[in-house]
Parts: sequence; structure tokens; C-alpha cells
Amino acid sequence: MRTYIGIDVGTSGTKTALFSGGGELIASHTSEYPMYQPNNGWAEQDPLDWWNAVLDGIRAVGHYDGVRAIGLSGQMHGLVMLDGNGEVLRPAIIWCDQRTSKEAAQLTELIGAERLIRLTGNPAMTGFTAAKILWVRNNEPHIWERCRHILLPKDYIRYKLTGEFATEVSDASGMQLMDISARDWSGEILTKLQIDRALLPKMYESPDVTGVTLANVSALPAGIPVAGGAGDNAAAAIGCGITAEGKAFTTIGSSAVVYAVSDKPRIDVQGRVHALCASVPGKWTVMSCTQGAGLSLKWLRDLLPPTPLKEWGNAKAPLSEGGQGGSRLSYSQMDALAADVPIGAEKLIFLPYLMGERSPHPDADARGVFFGLSAIHGNAQIIRAVLEGVAYSQRECLDVFREMGVEVGDMTFTGGGSKSELWRQMLSDLYNCPVKTLSRDEGAALGAAMLAAQSVGDSVSPPTNSSEAVIPNRERSAEYEPYYQLYKSLYPVLRESYKSLAAL
Ligand code: XUL
Repeated sequence: MRTYIGIDVGTSGTKTALFSGGGELIASHTSEYPMYQPNNGWAEQDPLDWWNAVLDGIRAVGHYDGVRAIGLSGQMHGLVMLDGNGEVLRPAIIWCDQRTSKEAAQLTELIGAERLIRLTGNPAMTGFTAAKILWVRNNEPHIWERCRHILLPKDYIRYKLTGEFATEVSDASGMQLMDISARDWSGEILTKLQIDRALLPKMYESPDVTGVTLANVSALPAGIPVAGGAGDNAAAAIGCGITAEGKAFTTIGSSAVVYAVSDKPRIDVQGRVHALCASVPGKWTVMSCTQGAGLSLKWLRDLLPPTPLKEWGNAKAPLSEGGQGGSRLSYSQMDALAADVPIGAEKLIFLPYLMGERSPHPDADARGVFFGLSAIHGNAQIIRAVLEGVAYSQRECLDVFREMGVEVGDMTFTGGGSKSELWRQMLSDLYNCPVKTLSRDEGAALGAAMLAAQSVGDSVSPPTNSSEAVIPNRERSAEYEPYYQLYKSLYPVLRESYKSLAAL
């Protein structure tokens, strides 16, 4: 049987999945690893943790005889720096890191605000790779001097598997070093930033073959083609069939993203949403990113103490699944607790800015807020407020898409968050549109495997929609509206206070 491997280098773990051409999942393995926060707003990971997770995954899925190709997908915007021997020089600075306010200003100054937006599709972003490169150059000149290769997370895995320094347009456009209309590195940006093009990997389209597996680096045999693949959201788009204008999806993983495809770059000059290259040749994307989505829920889960079931009220779900240490609350139990709380979480509103924010408020200084906290609130209200806050953020992003005239006739919900029945209904009620889920949800790993198949002239069948879409309920939509409006009013009021807090 012909098979295809999709590898997704995520924030909480790496998933390695083996698919048949019919799209059946034959085997899958996820290895987890930590995220380090050496300072408030900083986020780093060890690229060797990713690589070890990939090696584990490859060993675990086994069955290498029929593997025709491999596709890579991963967290976007990270910075991996290697020396001339291909050794990692420092921990990777990852997508949700917010240390680069000064460097983002420097980027704007060096390129010019309008020119930067015209070329890269975005105003200077603290979370994108270019500002991180400038940060290392400004703050760690000893590392910068030794740096010979700059890579994105999944492209580091490509280097380890194939020995090739290569990337592809969907992920590379999140580095803010490309002319996204030309779908290649921008000579102008590189010259103005004084970044030698030789530091950067070779550019491909997502379904191109970028190299083949080397002998003796993993359990895989040598010579298997490795496709370009895509940034995790652009790979999930392939897995959900979001490849043409008019369709969109929301994914909630560590981050949350609303993603639509466009026939030409659609740029929001305020940077509330991103314009990037799509994983479909000749297409672009409009994409929002809420930094702390599943990340907020995980943060809360890990904070809540392990407690015997009876003390968590009448929640219906079992404790074990998704929990840590056996008795941590599981996500499904958190869902069940929140479902018993009325809309509005008994007047508690959460702003999900635990790692600063990008969409629709690009602000490295923003931080999380529980607004309206009262002695009446317990764990259930706090959990509900977090779920609602993340959902309000998605609605606020979708409002920007609508304001820009981006057609969203069709909304799919994917990622770990889509397992939550409550989040599914919340999104549908808040978006005021039907929300579909997929019959099988292997997300970015499936998209990567589909791109792998495409790269060798084969195909992997996409999943179908699950039988029923979640339909918005008019009364509930109306009930959410005043809470959503209040949520929306809070960031503008706090903007200056966030600056003061950061300056302390
Ligand atoms: C998108 C983004 C996140 C990461 C998470 O712009 O930063 O979705 O890709 O993996």
C-alpha cells in the first residue's frame, strides 16, 4: 500500500501521522515538550526537542515499506539559528514571543512603513521572524557572528531529515522578509536590513519536492522525497479543503486562527489581520491570530489544583483524558463545568492576551484580564470566561474580515479546540453562521501528508464534513451580543495602561 507521512511540529508537541492514499489514518504518535518563558512575554523552545519528538514519531508509526513521501508542517514565525556545522546556536525564539518591540520599530524605520506593508503584506510584527533576527543581532552579537543559517521550525526538521536548507512560501511569508506578491525573498528588504541572502533557505512552493531523506538519520530508509509542506495553518487549510475564495476555517490550538484564501494579496494596513502566501500555488491568505487561545485554557488547566472528582461539582465528563498527573481536570470536564454556567459567565469577561496579542490588536504589551471578577465566581465561571474570551476574539477577527469584504460563506472549525462542544456552539452563535467540523480531524498533519502525496504526483483523499453543522441559535446570539460589545470596548480603554505596565 502507498502511504504518506505528515509531521506537524506544534507548540505543545509534534504529531507524526501515517496516511493511506484513501486518507485513512494508519498510525499516529504525538510527543510533547516544554515551552520556556525566561522573561514575561518571552517564549523559547529547544529545536532538539522537536527533532527528538520527530524521531520518536517516525519510530512509533513504523511501516516504512510503502512510504512514498513526507510532508512537513509546523508552528510559524520561529527563529532557529545554526552555525556553519549545522549546530543550533541558541534556543529557538518562537511565534508567541513578544520581546521585539524595539526591533519592530527599527524594521519600520529601515524599510519605511508603507513599503514594508506593500512588500510583506503586514506592518512590522513583533512575533514575526525578521524582528527576532534583529533582536539577536542587537542583543547577542556573539551569536549573530556565528550564525550561518536561519530556519523556521519545520525547516529545521527538513534540514535534519534531508540535509537541505529549504523552505516554502506559506511559512516563509510569516518571516516578514519576502515580497509576497513575487513569492520570493525581497532583495530590497534583505539589503536594507543587511541580512545576507545566503543565510536564508531556498524557496519552494508547498507541493514541491525539496529533498530526500538521508541514510542513518532516522528510522526511515534513505531516498524518500520530502515535500515543501506548509506553516501549520496553511497545512490545516489543505486538510480542511480550504483552497479557494469563499471558504474559511477557524482553528483553535495553542493559538487561534481565522483563515480565508484570496486570489490576490488582501492587505489590512492596520495589521489587524495578516496577508500571507497560501499553500496553494498562486493563492494568498487573509489570516488572523489570537496568541493565547488553547494556550489560555491550558494555562488555566495547569493552574487548577488536582482535586477529587466530587469537589468539582456535577461535571459529567471523566477526569483522566487530557489531564496531567491522573487527577487534573480534563478539557472535556472543563467543558462540562462551563456548560452549566450561563452565557456571560455571570458577568465575567476574559481578555486572552496572556502572550501579548496580534489580531486584531497587534500589541506586544497587552496582557490577560479577568474583568468583573467577584467573590461569586468559582472555577466553572472562570473556565467559561476563558472559553468565551477566546471565542469573542475570533468574532472580533471575523468582523475585520467582513469589514475588508472577505467573503466567508462557509466556516469549518478544526484543531484541538474543535473537540469542545461548547466552543463549537459559541463560535456558531457569535459568528451567526453554521460551523462545520470534519469527519476526521488530523489537521495540519493530514494537510502535510496531502502536500507530500501531491509532490510525487499522487493524492490523499481529504476528509468529508461531519454529518451535521452546528447551527447558530438566534436567542443565544442576542444574549452574547452585549457581552461581546463590552469585551470589544475593553482593549481600547486599556491600551495606554498596558504601555504603563510594560514600562514598570
Ligand atoms: C500564526 C501563528 C500560530 C502558530 C502556532 O500566525 O503564529 O498559529 O503558527 O503554531
